[in-house]
Amino acid sequence: MTLIALLTACFKEKKANTAPSIIPIPSEQVITKGVFVLSSATKLTYDDSLKSVANFFKSYVENGSNIQLNTSSKNSIQFKIDASISNNEAYQLKITKDKILISAKSQKGAFYAFQSLRQLLPVDFEKSKAFNETHIAIQCLEIKDAPQFKYRGMHLDVGRHFFSVDFIKKYINLMAMLKMNTFHWHLTEDQGWRIEIKKYPKLQEIAAFRNETLIGHHNNLPHQFDGKKYGGYYTQEEIKDVVKYASERQITIIPEIEMPGHSQAAIAAYSELGCSGKQIEVATKWGVFNEVYCPKESTFKFLEDVIDEVVALFPGKYIHIGGDEAPKTNWKNCDYCQKLIRKEGLKDEHGLQSYFIARMEKYINSKGKQIIGWDEILEGGLAPNATVMSWRGTSGAIQAAKEGHDVILTPGSHCYFDHYQSDNENEPLAIGGFLPLEKVYAFDPIPEELNEQEAIYVLGAQGNVWTEYMQTEKQVEYMAFPRVVALSEVLWSSPENKNYTDFINRLEQYQKRLDQLDVNYANHMYSVKGELKNTEGNLTYQLNATSSTYPIYYSIDDTEPSKLYSNPIAVDSFMNIKAIIRDSDDKNLGSIFEQKINLHKGVGAKITIDKEPHPAYNAGGKTALINGISGNNKRYGDKEWLGFSGEDVEITIEFEAPTNINTITTRFFNANGQWIYPPKEINLQLKLEDGRAISTSKKTENNDSLLVDFSVNISQFYPEDKNLKATELKITIPSYGIIPEGKQGTGNKPWTFIDEITIK
Ligand code: ACM
Ligand code: ZN
Repeated sequence: MTLIALLTACFKEKKANTAPSIIPIPSEQVITKGVFVLSSATKLTYDDSLKSVANFFKSYVENGSNIQLNTSSKNSIQFKIDASISNNEAYQLKITKDKILISAKSQKGAFYAFQSLRQLLPVDFEKSKAFNETHIAIQCLEIKDAPQFKYRGMHLDVGRHFFSVDFIKKYINLMAMLKMNTFHWHLTEDQGWRIEIKKYPKLQEIAAFRNETLIGHHNNLPHQFDGKKYGGYYTQEEIKDVVKYASERQITIIPEIEMPGHSQAAIAAYSELGCSGKQIEVATKWGVFNEVYCPKESTFKFLEDVIDEVVALFPGKYIHIGGDEAPKTNWKNCDYCQKLIRKEGLKDEHGLQSYFIARMEKYINSKGKQIIGWDEILEGGLAPNATVMSWRGTSGAIQAAKEGHDVILTPGSHCYFDHYQSDNENEPLAIGGFLPLEKVYAFDPIPEELNEQEAIYVLGAQGNVWTEYMQTEKQVEYMAFPRVVALSEVLWSSPENKNYTDFINRLEQYQKRLDQLDVNYANHMYSVKGELKNTEGNLTYQLNATSSTYPIYYSIDDTEPSKLYSNPIAVDSFMNIKAIIRDSDDKNLGSIFEQKINLHKGVGAKITIDKEPHPAYNAGGKTALINGISGNNKRYGDKEWLGFSGEDVEITIEFEAPTNINTITTRFFNANGQWIYPPKEINLQLKLEDGRAISTSKKTENNDSLLVDFSVNISQFYPEDKNLKATELKITIPSYGIIPEGKQGTGNKPWTFIDEITIK
């Protein structure tokens, strides 16, 4: 009694004003007076149908501490069914001095109440017996909570790299803590088939293994390989075990069996599934491959047999059939495919893809299941009952919703957790792109083009984790966390409760929980970010950090950061800014941020571009091209590179006063595997002070390097004019043209990526 009183007093002193920091933030949360003391004198009661959830909670408490929940005593935790709650996933959590009451309509809601209650307990509870006190005071409060979206998903590609059953369970458990409810298990790929299909043993013997794997990034030429056999698959027994584990955590698994593309591994095992029948190998590098299923009767028989075994393993409503990135080259050259197009009166190969998907949908529907496909399944006509997963932006979602189909949003811009999350040069190798935490947090799954009626078809969203560049489980954790934490709030919480600063404060707490759970999350909480500002010609450099808990120290001359940062730094010369966050003991947190600012004659000028950069690659806006800051040397997704999709671009730079110009340099990204090509030639035009206009064109170097430099020395072209003074510079950058035969994306328009235009 005295002990409890004492603890209560301590708790009040330490925590009475601290708001709980639950993620995702609940719909309604009211702090009330007092605390509930959880101890071995706490009794656990439950309605029968909530027994498993209540026991789950009991195990959690008893594993994490020495507290044993009793059946008879003075205060209690009650799990109760409340049929008046309208949503299956909703719950209420009422903590008073002598009772914690959890009310829900179903197990799902009760499980989510447990996840919220869990975050009110110290993080020590996450680890076996790590909480070694006998009592814990929990702040009295009242929560009413329900999700915003009914589909809250995370995906994992186990084809490119294979992950253990233990890891899959860890991933599922971590998702469940965030009230995510769907795990999209991407089980088949060009580089490996990962699900045991008993009727087709060669899927296990051949398709599950590749001879070797590409080393480094696909953009680095020439390609090199590790020479090591790699692979594995999940047995049906293992899959049943994972399905059960997920279901106990209210997570439904959607298996993905890719068709007609991304099927090279299966075709390597059974060559008759392809158009040519030629013997091929399981893919050893990344990309999109021409080997696709040939829509022969025997292929459909194979796929139906596979589906039969898949359906028996996964009790959920959906089977994902892929449908993305299926090149039509082999179908164009296949007599059987061409005859089938004519016989079925199909328009073309897109019609054939649509025929393929619709036929598989019919079969899958006959098994009582629904299909989901990537947005390519819209091409050539959507199968009648299909749900669309929109990944190439949101246009697929918009079209499908307008046609009355359910959609799930997974646009690359906000949901691809294989993209970089920091523009730090030494971030571990990733596929490309740039998706910082804040951008995930800002995501609104409902495209603004949809009206209220159409928006009903948006089931929710999903984070995708493609693993070409994630060889280890630790790296998967690094890429998924903390972005999935932000996504959980996008999907669960009401938009009016979302606030990024508040989220970051709660995330700082949540990361401590992840530490206990041994999760290798990316911690950019204490990394400094910088931004150059131009206010009417006044250049300043602003520093900030994700967390505002600790101060930033900086220097401008390449020395150890030593000055306390308070106001933006005036930029008036070449600078090498370094900055770091230090805690109250002067210990460095995070790593040193470094930024060179190269003041050249273009900085502060007026820039216009006749085309908007693509919204996904326009983070810095047009001034990024003349702000004195170069983009990342290894990748194009940061805020300094601008990306244009297949267009000719004309950039105009107007100088404030006539300016003497000697050299103009810039550079282009060159990553053909990602459809990125430098222009072949650039044209420069200078408008001179005396009214003349001069111009010159120069070819770019044609080579394999990732960065293609471009430089022009004006005096070489106009040696007679030593002191040309220009008022305006126009740069015309034609798109490369069309992606040539034999390259990724043949026949499409490539991207152009431009970095800083340095004028001296
Ligand atoms: C995908 O990213 N190919 C769906
Ligand atoms: Zn064919």
